[in-house]
Amino acid sequence: MPTLGIIGSGNIGAAVARLAVAADIDVVIANSRGPQSLTDLVEELGPRATAGTVEQAARAGEETLLSIPLTAYRSLPADLLLGRTVLDTGNYYPYRDGRIAELDSEEVTTTELAGQLLPGALLVKAFNNILTHHIPQLARPPDRSALPIAGNDPEAKTQAAELIDRLGFDTVDAGTPDESWRFEPESGAYTRIYLADPDVPDWSEHMLQSPAAPLPADKLRAALEATSRVKVAERTF
Ligand SMILES: NC(=O)c1ccc[n+]([C@@H]2O[C@H](COP(=O)([O-])OP(=O)(O)OC[C@H]3O[C@@H](n4cnc5c(N)ncnc54)[C@H](OP(=O)(O)O)[C@@H]3O)[C@@H](O)[C@H]2O)c1
Repeated sequence: MPTLGIIGSGNIGAAVARLAVAADIDVVIANSRGPQSLTDLVEELGPRATAGTVEQAARAGEETLLSIPLTAYRSLPADLLLGRTVLDTGNYYPYRDGRIAELDSEEVTTTELAGQLLPGALLVKAFNNILTHHIPQLARPPDRSALPIAGNDPEAKTQAAELIDRLGFDTVDAGTPDESWRFEPESGAYTRIYLADPDVPDWSEHMLQSPAAPLPADKLRAALEATSRVKVAERTF
């Protein structure tokens, strides 16, 4: 299995890195502060993990996981991810990213905006609709859970689905970037669908610790079909 590059070593980047090394995949992981700040994480991940610069992580393998705040995409070198399959975990959180007019007007989805910010990258939206602490809980067979993916490039989607399968999840093809609102924040296929207790109050301390329950692909598919588009401008978090 080729090496996986990971840009972003926070909640999601580190959670996926743990799945990757457990699946015998080598990872090169980077953050904004440089490799020396990743000593503890790399030690925890073991011999399959190396800390690198953002450029080293981007060029480490055929696939890259990009897991940084949306506003940081603009700071990445324009040609960094050209022609590469990039699993994009990004979401738009107005409280963190500020208000972004094209998203609030629903002119584009977050995935389409990412495509504009990273032209030439073969983006596949993935791992954006699941809470960090649910990733290790659900990435365990035999009760497989499914994650939605969306992207423009069929080969990149196939490649991403194979990687995600190896990491321990099934995938459901949720279409192209313009359709990815179906699993963006507050939609019917966003984080809550993985909660074991569906009545946990939104974003409470309890929700951030509440356990997950397996979500098979047919249930995810039904949730993607049933959801309606969230009014992004009305979102406050
Ligand atoms: N947390 C969740 O449950 C969750 C769920 C689904 C999707 N997401 C989305 O996934 C993305 C990552 O979320 P997260 O919770 O993992 O974030 P996080 O814990 O805040 O980590 C963000 C990471 O991005 C790195 N970073 C920031 N700017 C960078 C740059 N210019 N170049 C390289 N690295 C940079 C940070 O580096 P430093 O450590 O050096 O600052 C940090 O390692 C976000 O878009 C978020 O909306 C999060």
